[in-house]
This record gives sequence, C-alpha cells and structure tokens, in this order.
Amino acid sequence: MAHTTLGITGATGRIGGAVSRRLEERGVAHRLLVRSPHRVASHVAAANGLLDAATMDFADPDGAAESMAGLDTVFLVSASESADRKQQQLAMVEALSRAGVRRVVYTSFAAPAPDATFTFARTHYATEQAIERAGLEYTFLRDNFYLDVFPDFVSADRVLRGPAGDGRVAAVARADVVDAALAVLLDPRGHERAAYTLTGPSALTLDEMARIMTRVTGQDHRYEPETLEQARASRAGYDPEPWQMEGWLSTYTAIASGELSRVTNDVQMLTGHPPRSLEDVLRGA
Ligand SMILES: NC(=O)c1ccc[n+]([C@@H]2O[C@H](COP(=O)([O-])OP(=O)(O)OC[C@H]3O[C@@H](n4cnc5c(N)ncnc54)[C@H](OP(=O)(O)O)[C@@H]3O)[C@@H](O)[C@H]2O)c1
Repeated sequence: MAHTTLGITGATGRIGGAVSRRLEERGVAHRLLVRSPHRVASHVAAANGLLDAATMDFADPDGAAESMAGLDTVFLVSASESADRKQQQLAMVEALSRAGVRRVVYTSFAAPAPDATFTFARTHYATEQAIERAGLEYTFLRDNFYLDVFPDFVSADRVLRGPAGDGRVAAVARADVVDAALAVLLDPRGHERAAYTLTGPSALTLDEMARIMTRVTGQDHRYEPETLEQARASRAGYDPEPWQMEGWLSTYTAIASGELSRVTNDVQMLTGHPPRSLEDVLRGA
C-alpha cells in the first residue's frame, strides 16, 4: 500500500476521477476508494507507489471502514441516486468515524433542506447533519446542478422539456467543482466547518439555456415548459420507480421554485478564477 492519509471516493467517476488525476499530477499520494479496485489496478500499478486502491461501496459500510483505516481525510463523493441512498450515506458517515477519519470533504447540493423541492437534496441535508453530529471536521461543497447535465436533458428533437416554468438555475461546471475540491483538499486552512455553494456565473432560465445551445452548436434548440402532469406522462414510458420519477420531476420544479437561483462568489474565492459559463462547458473549456 502507498503511504497516504488521503482517500478519494468516486474515483472511477467524473468528479472523483478528475480530482484524483489532478492530485496525481501534483505528486499527492492518495487511496482510490472504489467499488471495483480491479478497474483501477493498472493505473495504480503505473503510479509508482503514489496511489493505492481499496474497496469502498456505500452498500458495505463495514468493508469501507476497513478500507479507510489510517486515512486522515476523505473526499466523499455522494453515491448515485437510489431508493436507499440516504440510509447508505448515513451508514457511511458512521463508517468514516469508526475508521478514525478526521476530516471529510463532501459533495453536497445547493440549498440542502429537509423539505427541499429537489428530493435528492434532502439526502444531502441529512448527510451534512450526520457529518456534523459525528464531530468530523468537514468542508461541504454544495454544488448546484452541473451545467454539463443540461445538454443531456435535450431530446433528440433538440427540446428541453420540463416543469421548470421560467425559473432560474445557477448551475455550475463540473470542472469548477473539481477545481474547488482540489483547492480545499490541498490547503485545508480556513475551510474547517465551512460550507460553500458552488454556482456558475449567472442564473439562467431553461429558455436562455436553449438559446445559448442554439448559438454555440449552430443547431436550433428550444425550451418547452411542461405542466407537472405532462412531465409525469412524458417520462412514464421509462417506467421509473416512484422515488426516481419524483427526483426527475423535482429537478425542474426546484428550478421553477427559485431555490436554485442564488449566484455565489464561492468558485472564484476558492479557485482564484471566475466560474465557467454554459458557453464554456459547451465549447469544452
Ligand atoms: N449536481 C448535479 O447536477 C449532479 C448530477 C449528477 C450527479 N450528481 C451527484 O454527484 C456525484 C458525482 O458526480 P459525477 O459526475 O462524478 O458522477 P459519476 O461520473 O456518475 O461518478 C459517480 C462515482 O460514484 C461512484 N459510486 C456511485 N454509487 C456508489 C456506491 N453506492 N458506492 C460506491 N461508489 C459509488 C461511482 O462508482 P462506479 O464507477 O463503481 O459506478 C463513480 O465512481 C454523483 O455520484 C451524484 O451523487 C450531481
């Protein structure tokens, strides 16, 4: 095993993977806490002792506690959404404590609250509360929606459809979340017991997003607001479980509610550069 006191979860994913690569570039040793260590085995082998890997699955907190033993700090990327994500994440907070981890940097969500309109944000609230109660040192990165996901919401006929009304969303680029995570992991001073709300440079309506997509791609995009009933009906064909359907719909109703419209200076403050815009993300900046 590498001599390291830093663990990175979600390292096979986009945020955790990018944070890990950036740490590696800087020669910072760390442990990849992943569901399937064999997927990172050749990478670990090529890293000349800078990296090691251990199994971490939110569904197996005891195994995760063993894998995290000896670590001082863990970058905890929230698990993929599931019916029991809340229970899994709360169990993982206990596992962090049991493992003797002192500090956690957690990818939370903007405006977390027990009654947040975006149903998945309620899990983030509960997880933050559990981390505080456990007495862990923490830094919460409360990410707004990723700007990067909105192009994925566009249908084949280039329409953004959803019950978002004319609400605004201060979505943030994944790359800025990575930059912010790196900043607080590399220099924890001043970030103890802190919560940062990571947003883009402005709050956009989905109509404005569609116009920007049209401008940047040269292909016509448009936003078509749906009623809640229309939205439910248009997604029913995917046959989602109820919790999944509510998560999907509340992505849009949370935008309509205005809960996700607050623009902050936190990306600039943490990273030293202005947040990337939707144009930047679409152009791959
Ligand atoms: N703010 C937003 O708009 C937004 C959008 C999407 C997601 N998110 C949240 O942000 C997180 C990170 O985003 P991302 O873009 O990096 O996602 P991603 O590319 O899908 O990566 C997710 C990572 O988490 C790992 N993971 C998921 N469930 C796990 C579990 N039960 N136990 C252990 N590891 C697990 C995955 O491992 P495997 O490779 O083994 O699957 C993967 O490494 C997501 O997991 C999700 O909670 C936020």
